[in-house]
Amino acid sequence: MSLNDSVFHEGLERVLIDEDRLAARVQELGVEVGRAYEGRHPILVGVLTGAFIFMSDLSRQMELPLDVDFMAVSSYGDATESSGVVRILKDLNSSIEGRDLLIVEDIIDSGLTLQYLIDTLQRRNPASIRVVALLRKEKPDAIDVPVDWVGFEIPDEFVVGYGLDKAGRYRNLPFIGIARTP
Ligand code: IMP
Ligand code: MG
Repeated sequence: MSLNDSVFHEGLERVLIDEDRLAARVQELGVEVGRAYEGRHPILVGVLTGAFIFMSDLSRQMELPLDVDFMAVSSYGDATESSGVVRILKDLNSSIEGRDLLIVEDIIDSGLTLQYLIDTLQRRNPASIRVVALLRKEKPDAIDVPVDWVGFEIPDEFVVGYGLDKAGRYRNLPFIGIARTP
């Protein structure tokens, strides 16, 4: 997969993870995560909006009964650096008390969003909380928050595609690309 000159690819530096590598890794992850929940009935909690594609592909590799719910949080607005302020824009639809939760995140950058989510959800007394993230940036100063499965460790660059956006754009790219810095 290479970039072309269309407006669709305008603003991109290069492809970081192409469609085939993404699909192979998500398939592998889904099977592995599914096995970890054998005999259980977890709730997948997708973190909107970035995780919507990952969650849909991942969940279809998990051969077990499960529930799907979503939370929307905002820490960025249109900025590309974390503000450190996390806000709940949409809460879960259902109670999680006594349930096995799997948080499905698109990317871990500073770790602030995930830490906030884990703290918030822990207070609602689930049976367990585990986390799967598609991407994690290699950042020495990131918060050390527990992540059970990571799809890809990536360099500390702003990436887009496969659900991830830059100011709302690029979510529908079928690969992960690096956004050009102005
Ligand atoms: P954190 O709180 O700094 O870990 O940031 C987590 C959230 O910021 C992610 O769930 C994304 O929505 C967003 N984010 C962080 N880095 C990137 C990036 O490189 N591209 C797109 N979104 C990002
Ligand atoms: Mg996100």
